[in-house]
Amino acid sequence: MKKVFIETYGCQMNQSDSEIVGAIVEKNGYELTTELEDADIIFVNTCSIRENAEQRVKNRLSQFENLKKKKPNLKVGVLGCMAERLKDDLFKENKSVDIIVGPDSYRDIPSLLDEVENGQKAASVLLSKEETYSEIIPVRLGSNGVSAFISIMRGCENFCSYCVVPFTRGKERSRDYRTILNEAKDLFEKGYREITLLGQNVNSYRWEEEGKTTNFAQLMEMIAKISPLLRVRFSTSHPKDISEELIKTIASYDNICNYIHLPVQSGSNRMLEKMNRKYTREDYMNKIEMIKKYIPDCSISTDIITGFCSETLEDHNDTLSMMEWVGYDYAFMFNYSQRPNTIAAKKFEDDIPAEEKTRRLEEIIVIQRELSHKSNIKDIGKEFEVLIEGKSKRSEDKLFGRTSQNKVVIFDKEDFKIGDYIKVKIKECTSATLIGEKVN
Ligand code: 5AD
Ligand code: SF4
Repeated sequence: MKKVFIETYGCQMNQSDSEIVGAIVEKNGYELTTELEDADIIFVNTCSIRENAEQRVKNRLSQFENLKKKKPNLKVGVLGCMAERLKDDLFKENKSVDIIVGPDSYRDIPSLLDEVENGQKAASVLLSKEETYSEIIPVRLGSNGVSAFISIMRGCENFCSYCVVPFTRGKERSRDYRTILNEAKDLFEKGYREITLLGQNVNSYRWEEEGKTTNFAQLMEMIAKISPLLRVRFSTSHPKDISEELIKTIASYDNICNYIHLPVQSGSNRMLEKMNRKYTREDYMNKIEMIKKYIPDCSISTDIITGFCSETLEDHNDTLSMMEWVGYDYAFMFNYSQRPNTIAAKKFEDDIPAEEKTRRLEEIIVIQRELSHKSNIKDIGKEFEVLIEGKSKRSEDKLFGRTSQNKVVIFDKEDFKIGDYIKVKIKECTSATLIGEKVN
């Protein structure tokens, strides 16, 4: 049996796609391996979101070129967003590449592998309006046996001006809710205790059938009802679409986690307009107030881009003040990276010098570290239910788990098992973790 090694870069959606690819190759007589050295075929599932994400993959492909010199029959495939964005150019750029497969063409992988058997190159990069890999049961890769992703929709049509995703992942489409529900039930029966529903904009999930519509809030509710022992999370929400109905649903189920990732990108109305985000600073603040009204202990994280086209210090300060106002528990922070063919690349100048972007980014990172620390300090003395996910990396006799608010807690191992729920009282913290003790 030929062995396939899959390496994944980028977002959770890519992780989930790799698990679909794993299922497809296994079904077609290949074996998955976690050892690069054993592989007959290497698949790299790639990300295009920022230039440095692509650069990382290109460096990796150069390493594979060397590997191929030692192992001439080795085949290398590029999957995902870079495959879709660069298409055949990837063959020219890197000699090690044999196969190119875009995000909607994974079902073609077995036939593409047959084609490359005789030393040819093969590519499939058509985007689809329908493909959701609905009935494929993913192979859980690198799983802790407790948490799993379920992809509920694909694609994105928001066209934020900076973003490459609508070009690499195509039209938005939702998956039949019954197949999602079955996948969730199956995971629960296998011992999984936490499911994260994934989509580029989960709030626009919609399944229509015989005049009846199922929206995201309804889907969440159906999944939450599988068992009170099954935690449900979701990612990512677009602030323009997050609804009161969804917030109320989250509030009314203990097992829907009190954690919302709500990417703000910028706190400046001028930037938000230029980014084509379709909300204002005030709209965003209203959404945060709505969340806090129904779920006072909800934690909130965000994504921030610094140094977008023409961003002034005033715009930047608007972002800083927004961060303080919300008091984010966590943030993913990035320098703006111009992506070819996006609206911003076509219409605006990428005019903030790299050093200035980085200076602003560092300022943002410092503020966020303080905010995260403050948020953790507030948790000292409180009790939380924690789902145990694994062993602590730092210490043999400690375990770690997460609170509903998605914060990592470290505590003594005793005789707890991964997948158990325990009640923990927080004793200390750093800006990144809580340290707790089991209580009854
Ligand atoms: N440059 C920098 N960051 C970007 N993101 C998306 N596109 C870009 C870009 N061109 C960020 C956004 C998004 C997150 C997934 O990545 O903050 O929410
Ligand atoms: Fe995920 Fe976007 Fe990166 Fe594609 S470009 S892998 S959708 S983050």
